[in-house]
Amino acid sequence: MNKHIVKLAEDTISAEELLQLTDWINSKVQLTKGPLTKEFEKQFAAYMGARYSVMVNSGSSANLLMAYALLEGGYLKNKKVVVPAISWVTTLSPFMQLGFEPFLCDSDKNNLGVDIEHLERIFQKENPALLIIVQVLGHANHMDAIMALCEKYGVLLIEDGCEALGSEYRQKKLGTLGKAGSFSFYYGHHISTIEGGIVVTDDEDLYNLMLSIRSHGWARDVSEAYASQWKESYHIDSFRDLYTFYYPGFNLRSTDLNAFLGIGQLKKLDAIAQIRSENYQHFVKYLGDNYWVQKSDASFLSHFAYGTLVENRMEVAEHLKINGIETRPLICGSMGLQPFWIKKYGTCSLPVADIVHHYGLYLPNHANLNEERIKYVCDTFAEVAIPKHFD
Ligand SMILES: Cc1ncc(COP(=O)(O)O)c(C=O)c1O
Repeated sequence: MNKHIVKLAEDTISAEELLQLTDWINSKVQLTKGPLTKEFEKQFAAYMGARYSVMVNSGSSANLLMAYALLEGGYLKNKKVVVPAISWVTTLSPFMQLGFEPFLCDSDKNNLGVDIEHLERIFQKENPALLIIVQVLGHANHMDAIMALCEKYGVLLIEDGCEALGSEYRQKKLGTLGKAGSFSFYYGHHISTIEGGIVVTDDEDLYNLMLSIRSHGWARDVSEAYASQWKESYHIDSFRDLYTFYYPGFNLRSTDLNAFLGIGQLKKLDAIAQIRSENYQHFVKYLGDNYWVQKSDASFLSHFAYGTLVENRMEVAEHLKINGIETRPLICGSMGLQPFWIKKYGTCSLPVADIVHHYGLYLPNHANLNEERIKYVCDTFAEVAIPKHFD
């Protein structure tokens, strides 16, 4: 039997990159956050077409940093936030930890981003300060409509782009369409720094605030103009300077070791995104006629994984497993049906997100897959999968 192993994700860090890393380590360089982190941030911002970026130790930390900096910086008219029901736990959890009141938004039946009608109803009823969206599995939300609604109701927009690095909407990178955007460099994402994450923004104040909050709340990392202004306001002398804290910060830093990897990975990102994009087309070719297809108006799709819906998920998952193919639920399903949400707020049932929760799964896509292996995945899947569609 021609049985392949098709893992959900494979390491994007090559043996050659690891050798380069060991050579670099052996040259007795600084391993903690230093010049390479700055260099990676500069290169990443340029890649994204953003002015600034702040590297942190995970995508989750990137979300926490955005949330706290917006709050601390006085960007928000209240502490109400709209979060997509189909998201990741740490898209939502920072807001719960920081005492926000979160409202879950149902999903669009095509792109699995936020449903525009439900979003507007929440905006009208709750007057929230903030909307965080997730570009689910690399696909774009209905960005024009979302940005228009945010404008109309005075809501600040931020993006969790952790699954969409390289995807574009009207030729702009997803993650750069709101006030700030987050990305993950965990193993299995488009590029990896082992663990890692980053926030991009064009806002200089927010950027400096995030540099401070990332590192305890001190002024050491912020630009000279900001640091001297803060020092002057509080009459801080040069001796106290290093141990003076302007914000009740975190330590969310990454290291130059991770940044070294990031700089190497960035060189491969376009090629990786291109393969992922082509792989999505292969999936659509083999499954699209019979099964629900996630689709969006992304002008470029840097695809993450192939989400679909089946009536018999347990059977499909078992069949894939015995044939060497890894699969997972379609992200976490609905946050409103997760134990951590139910414990605090009670069950939140939403028509589309509930279907994704109960019937959604995703199939692997990564840069080491090609059409032949994807056909094997699709054929194996189709042997048992019973299609499910939104009614
Ligand atoms: C949408 C989304 N946000 C945030 C994260 C968290 O990223 P990390 O694992 O780097 O903390 C993930 C992880 O897969 C994700 O899919």
